Amino acid sequence: MATKASTNAPTLQPPAPAGETPRLQVEGLTRSFGGRPVVKDVSLTVMPGQVTCLLGPSGCGKSTTLRIIAGVETADAGRVIVDGEEMTAPGLHVPPERRGIGLMFQDFALFPHLSVAENVAFGLTSGSRAEKRARVEELLRRVRLERYIDAYPHELSGGEQQRVALARALAPRPRVMLMDEPFSGLDNRLRDGIRDETLDILKEEGAAVLLVTHEPEEAMRMADEIALMRGGRIVQKGAPYNVYNAPVDQAAAAFFSDLNVIRGVVRGALTDTPFGQFLAPGIPDGTMVDIVIRPQHLKLDLDRGGRGPAPTPQEGTWARGVVVRARFLGAESLVELRMDYDGSILRASVPSVFLPKPGTPLWVAFRRDRCFVFPSSPEISHTGLVREGETDAAAEALADAGAAAPR
Ligand SMILES: Nc1ncnc2c1ncn2[C@@H]1O[C@H](COP(=O)(O)OP(=O)(O)OP(=O)(O)O)[C@@H](O)[C@H]1O
Ligand SMILES: [Mg+2]
Repeated sequence: MATKASTNAPTLQPPAPAGETPRLQVEGLTRSFGGRPVVKDVSLTVMPGQVTCLLGPSGCGKSTTLRIIAGVETADAGRVIVDGEEMTAPGLHVPPERRGIGLMFQDFALFPHLSVAENVAFGLTSGSRAEKRARVEELLRRVRLERYIDAYPHELSGGEQQRVALARALAPRPRVMLMDEPFSGLDNRLRDGIRDETLDILKEEGAAVLLVTHEPEEAMRMADEIALMRGGRIVQKGAPYNVYNAPVDQAAAAFFSDLNVIRGVVRGALTDTPFGQFLAPGIPDGTMVDIVIRPQHLKLDLDRGGRGPAPTPQEGTWARGVVVRARFLGAESLVELRMDYDGSILRASVPSVFLPKPGTPLWVAFRRDRCFVFPSSPEISHTGLVREGETDAAAEALADAGAAAPR
């Protein structure tokens, strides 16, 4: 069980109005291909107007989960319920077009031979001609493309085509909208704007949104709730703030940023390190632990004739290192240091411009309220700096071996 060194973080939960029926309920979804399990006991709930992001590395089973919910793939076990009505269950498979579910995928191909209006009207099966036209006009106003109503897809930019695809998916008023990396084809600047706009429209429509992404920034930006997936399982669920600030294990922490790691052994619920003692409550004596901290939570100070700042309760003991490299990234600078105590590398992210020359001695402290303490996994080699993804395989191996897979 992971233990956080400090518990002063606020607890933020996504809003879940009492008594409201979830738009989407998924219970115990399981699916194997050729004997290889790909989706393992996945459960989640999405309320009307709520956005849940299924976040995880490539190949972890996100799209398969979405495809089962959409009904274009079958489940070996588990249930999919929309507005209280079973869609997938043992012996039951409601066809995709009768699920009240809208789909948007990365290759959101519009029909090239149909006009924008005809593309949007495509999913409208009921209603008079005039009613359909009114709905198409309303949606195109929503996505600010009414002037393109008679244009053809090739006359639109990528971002405009994406908005037509959104209008088309929304046309039949889906109760649930499933989106699989829908923004990944767009360039960065365009993407932020379209993402926010899309979200506003989906919330207004009251749809429950399940959005798949492998980009933590996208999930943090869009989600009311993040479901972090790894090796076919959901390993952690919660508001973006909680998943980021109270990761369930080291791999979950590493998914969101590079990590600095120092390793120590627990003695009497304490671990001695070059940065002073860290609390390791509930972890048995003799256990090897990793003390983990994100680069933006290191503190740096100047060397004063071989001495550093005095220890404080907030920062503990300061340790000396030497700058290996410093890079300016726009909003922040990244400083890499080789630590005197064992030659390992730590990485600090400093707001704005801070570019000390290689060879400059600096003192480093850990913000105690931002450290996580996890039992070490033997598969994770200790290099001081752990980059995103490096811990995934090890964590998957542990989860599959029956180690605690917290939900
Ligand atoms: N129809 C299929 N037959 C066999 N294997 C499949 C099938 N569909 C998916 N898989 C396998 O299941 C695993 C999970 O695939 P899935 O597409 O769900 O991953 P993902 O999380 O969406 O990844 P990405 O981020 O790369 O899109 C992969 O190893 C994939 O090869
Ligand atoms: Mg996928």
